[in-house]
Amino acid sequence: MATFSEMVLVLDFGGQHNQSIARQVRELHVYCEMHPYNLSLAAIRQINPQGIVFSAGPAGVADPGIDELGIPIFRADAHQTPEGMAKLRDFLYGVCGCRGNWTMAKFVEEQIRLIKAKAGDRKVLCALSGGVDSSVAATLVHRAVGDRLTCVFVDHGFMRLNEPERIVKTFREDLGMNLVFVPAAERFLQKIAGVTDPEAKRKLIGTEFIRVFEEEAAKLGTVDFLVQGTVYPDVIESSTATGTVIKSHHNVGGLPEDLRFELIEPLRMLFKDEVRAVGQELGLSEDLIWRQPFPGPGLAIRVLGEVTRDKLDQLRLADDIVFREIKAAGLYRQIWQSFVILPTTMKSVGVMGNERTYAYPAVLRAVTSQDAMTAEWARLPNELLERISSRIVNEVPGINRVVYDITSKPPGTIEWE
Ligand code: XMP
Repeated sequence: MATFSEMVLVLDFGGQHNQSIARQVRELHVYCEMHPYNLSLAAIRQINPQGIVFSAGPAGVADPGIDELGIPIFRADAHQTPEGMAKLRDFLYGVCGCRGNWTMAKFVEEQIRLIKAKAGDRKVLCALSGGVDSSVAATLVHRAVGDRLTCVFVDHGFMRLNEPERIVKTFREDLGMNLVFVPAAERFLQKIAGVTDPEAKRKLIGTEFIRVFEEEAAKLGTVDFLVQGTVYPDVIESSTATGTVIKSHHNVGGLPEDLRFELIEPLRMLFKDEVRAVGQELGLSEDLIWRQPFPGPGLAIRVLGEVTRDKLDQLRLADDIVFREIKAAGLYRQIWQSFVILPTTMKSVGVMGNERTYAYPAVLRAVTSQDAMTAEWARLPNELLERISSRIVNEVPGINRVVYDITSKPPGTIEWE
């Protein structure tokens, strides 16, 4: 699916850093695609790349005939040192003769042309979550087809404080899109009433999401296309021959395969930083572009134990304090995710004024990461931890203690459920 005249092939030999070479090539403004190391010679000939880069890794050997194809090869290592980048630049521009035509401005222009050609005057539907990927994908498609795009945003009631209102305002008022807002909090809450098992919660929410989405889609009459915010790491992971990366979650908010739509996936060849750059190119706000990842089932998997409206409200207040304090400290972008977990299966004793309290603890979780596959607990400044703790305990009724999770992934996961 090369949309650019210049293209370099990165052969993936596995290993933890198997995507970073491809990212480096793109950073040097050369479009590249990553394929498994054992890609056939016929397939390589058909792609007809300007050059081939081998990513260093433990997996097998490429077809020996690859050297006879007459395409320049040289073997990159994944460490992003200045010397490594200089060597890579020299290879791409000096040896392969690339000119560096991969820019986000050109990508946007090209995609708008492609989407227009594909969709014609037919109707397009998008399930909007408010996350970076679906937001950028929807905005790009909107540029191409305008009012023929309808976005459906299902509020399952497990969003962060004021998030549904913010999403509606951004997409309906600021960006002028057709947005169907589905307030379904009560319905989802009833579905998971009394459920404490994390996987059961996820499944129920996921199934209900699809049901609600299908009901809304049916109201729109004939729709031919569905926009999905699939990004390149997902594409690579599902096609990797080395099997080093195994995704543990399906996105809740992900849709079943038997929906009768043709897919429009404008971001499927982009890495996350490129998705952000496209968002910037399209004029989306910094808040939206830099939003931290948020799980599909939302706060329902951060209230440990049975989920109720009251517990969700408590968690929302505590979570909002963390969000604001991390922002005020200028750390929001550096941190992959920062949030609160409310373990409502335990209470502890505290003292407030002259009163004994017996209430829930709040668990603060903040991690740094590149891709959520591994993560380090964030070394937050003590003064910030102090402010967060004191604000949560003083401002959120029902919480009398704050603890900080200092477990990295592995062995911990980012979420607690
Ligand atoms: P874990 O907890 O496995 O999370 O370290 C890795 C990343 O995935 C997110 N996550 C989910 N995302 N549906 C989602 O869409 C889910 O059920 C789900 N569970 C975890 C998590 O927030 C982190 O970014």
